[in-house]
This record gives sequence, C-alpha cells and structure tokens, in this order.
Amino acid sequence: MTGDLPNAVRIVRIGPHTLILGDAYAVLPGLLAARGRPFDEAVMDPPYDFDNSGGGAFRAARHAADAVVDLGLDRGFDHSILTPALADGVVVFCHNDQLPEILTQVKRQFARFALCLWRKTNPMPVANKHYQPDGEFYVHAWLKPAHPVGELSAKKRVWDGPVARGGEGAHPTVKPDGLMAKIMANLSGGEVIDPFMGTGSTGVAAVRVGKTFTGIERHPHWFDLAVRRVTAAMDGAPDPIRERPRIRPAVDAPAPLFAGEGAG
Ligand SMILES: C[S@@+](CC[C@H](N)C(=O)[O-])C[C@H]1O[C@@H](n2cnc3c(N)ncnc32)[C@H](O)[C@@H]1O
Repeated sequence: MTGDLPNAVRIVRIGPHTLILGDAYAVLPGLLAARGRPFDEAVMDPPYDFDNSGGGAFRAARHAADAVVDLGLDRGFDHSILTPALADGVVVFCHNDQLPEILTQVKRQFARFALCLWRKTNPMPVANKHYQPDGEFYVHAWLKPAHPVGELSAKKRVWDGPVARGGEGAHPTVKPDGLMAKIMANLSGGEVIDPFMGTGSTGVAAVRVGKTFTGIERHPHWFDLAVRRVTAAMDGAPDPIRERPRIRPAVDAPAPLFAGEGAG
C-alpha cells in the first residue's frame, strides 16, 4: 500500500496529474472508491490479442509485431474494464481480432459508439496472407455526458498519419502525438484516465490541452518514461522520446513487476 491507495507500488504527482505504478486491475477498485465517482473519460491502448504465427516469406519483415509479442503485449485484456463504472466515455485501441468482443461489450455498456481508424501512412511494406498492417482501429463509446465534441473537421472517424518513430527507449506501440491530440479534441470531459499508460502518450496529449490526467502502468521502465514525458509536457519542454534519435532501450523487455507474470 502506498499512501492512501491500496495496491499502488508508487504514486507520482505532477501538478494536478497522478501517475501510478501498479497493476490496473488491482489499483482501480481503490482509486474509484476513493474518488467516489467515475472519471469523465478513459483513453487506453491495452495489450492486443492476436495470432502472430506464420508470416512465410514476410516473417523477417514483421519485427514490429514480433516486438509486441516479445513484450507480452499480445495477450489481451479484461474487457469488463470497459464500463461506465470507470468513465462516462471510453476510447480503446484494439487489434482486428479483438473487435467483435469489444464492440459487444461497449454496445451493452454505453449509449453509443463509433468505430474509428488510424490509417497508417507508412505501414510496413508487407502483408500476411490476409491484409497489410496499414490501419489500427479504436472504438469510442460514450454515455450522454461524454458525447463527442469538436468542429466538423475534427469529427472524422479516420485519421491519417505515420507510425511514430520513438526516440530514446521507445515503446513499440507508442501512439503519434497528432492522433492523440485528435482524440483529445473529441472528448468533452476534463478528467482523463489511462489504465495501460505505457510511456504516457495519453497523458502528454491530455496535459497539452489542459485536461487532468491519471495514468496507471505496471512496468517501472515505461512508468519512469511516462513520468518524464508528462513532466516535460507540464513544463512546455520537448518530449524526451521525440527529441533524440532512436536508441534501443537498455532493457528490451522490462523485468516483470509481479512474480510469474510476463511483460505487458
Ligand atoms: C500497448 S501499451 C501502451 C503504449 C502507450 N499507448 C504509449 O504510447 O506508450 C500497453 C501498456 O499497458 C501495460 N499494462 C499491461 N497490463 C497492465 C496492467 N494490468 N496494469 C497496468 N499496466 C498494464 C503494459 O506494460 C504496456 O506498457
């Protein structure tokens, strides 16, 4: 127990923002009980769930997917986290294979949803026997208080942009600033939580538009990077992972935080 939050390994407060090192499923019940109400918005990029086998002649070129698997980020997440008990609105990135179950869950739990797409303008020039990896879905679901906002031009379901080439210690699934800024522009609420924050891309975008951010991450390596990024965003300083050429992280797969668990 850290401070007044059971199961948090560490809590870092940066101005009005709160970054928590710990397991989201263990931390959230205490966090929500302490607040006494859900967050306005949850924006998350949880572990994917996909079959990375095969690849044939393209196997060697599929290193992005391999990096995700190496970090254990191919094992999915508990979809029951997608409820109004967490937030009035949720934005969740997902793999193609997760869509049927996630859409079923949000349709049951929320008033409306929109299926949105990040169309990657620099996809890996490969395809398995199905399709090219040139798009990533996200689902935005909401109750009435979290109805999407923004000018007509900001309300597009498709956002075009390149895969972010992270700098120092970059996470393999780090999201582009432009995409996260577009998502923030569609959120009416001022309090945003990301229970799978990774290096804090949601937090950086939230801070830049004056929203209050709470993030949870279970791996100390990504957590520390998120603390640095959110601190820099608060100070109006350059983003630490964007300003330098890519250097491989000292530890490719951070050591599991909890005994018996893999990364991700
Ligand atoms: C797909 S990544 C998010 C990357 C993030 N969008 C970024 O731009 O850096 C998912 C993150 O969730 C974390 N994670 C997975 N399961 C978790 C859990 N139960 N509690 C907290 N964090 C978790 C992983 O360590 C990983 O960093």
